[in-house]
Amino acid sequence: MPRSLLGSLQKSGKAIFELLRGFLDHGFGQELNPLNHLGALTIYFFWIVTISGIWLFLFFKTSVSGAYESVEYLTHEQWYLGGVMRSLHRYASDAAIITLALHMIREFVYDRYRGNRWFSWVTGIPLLWMVIPLGITGYWLVWDQLAWYVALTSAELLDWLPIFSDSMARNFLNAGALSNRFFTLMAFIHLIGLPLFLVFGIWLHVLRINGPRINPPRALMAGSLAAMIVLSFAWPALSQGEVDMTQVPQSLGLDWYYLLVYPLIKTWSPAWVWGLLSGITLFLLVAPWLPPQRSKPVAVVDLDNCNGCARCADDCPFGAIIMMDRSDGMAYEKEAVVDPSLCLSCGMCVGSCPTATPFRRHSALTPGIDMPDLSAATLREKILKVSKKLIGNRRILVFGCEGRNQAANLKSRLNDKETATVDIICMAQLPPAFIDFVLSRDLADAVVMTGCSGGECRYRFGEQWTGLRIERQRDPRLRKRVDTDRIALAWQEPWSGLSDIPAVVAALRDSQRSGHTAEQGVDEELTLPPVRGNRWGLPLTVTAYALFMIFVGWLSVWPRYQLIEQGQAMVSLSFSHAGQLIRECRRLTQEELNKLPPNMRKADDCPRERLPVRIAFSSDGTTLYEPAGHPPGCGMMVSPMFISAW
Ligand code: HEM
Ligand code: SF4
Ligand code: SF4
Repeated sequence: MPRSLLGSLQKSGKAIFELLRGFLDHGFGQELNPLNHLGALTIYFFWIVTISGIWLFLFFKTSVSGAYESVEYLTHEQWYLGGVMRSLHRYASDAAIITLALHMIREFVYDRYRGNRWFSWVTGIPLLWMVIPLGITGYWLVWDQLAWYVALTSAELLDWLPIFSDSMARNFLNAGALSNRFFTLMAFIHLIGLPLFLVFGIWLHVLRINGPRINPPRALMAGSLAAMIVLSFAWPALSQGEVDMTQVPQSLGLDWYYLLVYPLIKTWSPAWVWGLLSGITLFLLVAPWLPPQRSKPVAVVDLDNCNGCARCADDCPFGAIIMMDRSDGMAYEKEAVVDPSLCLSCGMCVGSCPTATPFRRHSALTPGIDMPDLSAATLREKILKVSKKLIGNRRILVFGCEGRNQAANLKSRLNDKETATVDIICMAQLPPAFIDFVLSRDLADAVVMTGCSGGECRYRFGEQWTGLRIERQRDPRLRKRVDTDRIALAWQEPWSGLSDIPAVVAALRDSQRSGHTAEQGVDEELTLPPVRGNRWGLPLTVTAYALFMIFVGWLSVWPRYQLIEQGQAMVSLSFSHAGQLIRECRRLTQEELNKLPPNMRKADDCPRERLPVRIAFSSDGTTLYEPAGHPPGCGMMVSPMFISAW
């Protein structure tokens, strides 16, 4: 994909995403904004699906005659529990698709899928191939008209693959062909096989992430569950009539979240649909390298200064630091080792290293771990350089994240001699000792630290680690002698475009002018992320949930899919077509048999061929349908062929 196209796609996607984020922030607040917990919400919806599924399974009968009946019993007789569980099962599955799609889009638009992040992206794709069939097999089990359509169409799709010797679709053309074993198999795939793969897949997906957020905040869990329950009562999930294999339903309520491509199987052909699905999968698989991300130099450990404290390993958001046994004979037990294939060059490890202190006088500033692109020594130089230019007694030094060009943006807005800006890789790259250094050496009167808030930190934990270190709750802590009234943490929502920073700087400056001291109390607004709760919070949250419920419920059956137009009929024809011997059968020798895979060992070799088949369907002397085709298979005695005219 050309870089410019990728850039504009990401830019416009980001703009839409941030608009939505802005709206949701006003309702939920930053902490609870669902857009910051999309992966975790997807897992949570799967929990709801699992628990409700267990209830359904207790009453489900895995037989042709029992399946529909047992689901109907749950829906109508036991509506207050079984019916609700069924609806929860369906709607939570649909909701999971929405959060999953948004999760993917979010990682794409914020460019968190390339470079060393490719692993999470690539391992996400097989999850799609597990989740969608999970939903499809679920619809199959209900064995209503929709299930029949799903079974028949899936079978047509699968029949196109050269893996089955017999046509699957034939099993769904008349009731006699369907066996109870089929339901047992489906139940196994839906209840055990695919879920097991999914759990393994999710584990693999987050394997490289340090402290993955797999649970959303409790309030969000409660709200999402409540929304699903309300929807289940307001719009219970229903079956779509008992299967009658002699009649094709005119229209069906398709669950578009799972069955989006099904109409295409008829309109195009199974081959084209396989082509489309494979193309999309392949494109997604190679997307992290289209184009490859320019790699930045990774963190470098300096063993002479590393005491093996493991703080960097604890703080690295990507698990790129491993603590290994000491290799240099020094009196410490462990040493930090960076895995270059995992490091994202965020610099957070430098912020966590106790040896990254700018106060060193007698030795060079070489911490235990450092960033080649912006070393601790360079950072100190930069600070000293810009602070020299500050004039007045309300001098403020603003630290910004380079990813958002904060320094450049702010300079144009704060064009005065009392403010200086320094860009760093991520706010958590700045060790608290540097703040102490700036204030105790009188390089500035106050410090503003700004970065992206609400889970939008490019490197995941920037906001948290910085906040905790400054609040003296996480090592390395800000020294007690530092007056926190002289520090403002001004986290910005990406959509706000830094609009609050000048105000924060002005307020901090005013507080310095008025001789604000620690005893006079800290201005909460300056030291905490902006609180988004307001009187519109609840109505906006309720509106957001209502819209979500409508969206989930609506696309789960609407718009209806018209299988056949008014006045049209469908004829399905299925027959077996025997292959003809090309030459005499020949008995294989033991040696020849041994060379064959065990499942293909047959005593006789009887090569066969099948002639193309022509079918003509006419009514009142008019030929309505006359396809010709080559039967699938490769020389089996009986070759089935499935043709349907809609
Ligand atoms: C069942 C489906 C999925 C679930 C439950 C899931 C869940 C998660 C979770 C919990 C995280 C960690 C988030 C964090 O702690 O910051 C994550 C990260 C990630 N996911 Fe997924 N995910 C799913 C599917 C996908 C798919 C289909 C893709 C894209 C093809 C994807 C791409 C990513 C990426 C790139 C990250 C890493 C983000 C980072 O490095 O900051 N995920 N996912
Ligand atoms: S730079 Fe970031 S990703 Fe790399 S080792 Fe340090 S904390 Fe981990
Ligand atoms: S934080 Fe610094 S001293 Fe501690 S293990 Fe990491 S590199 Fe070594």
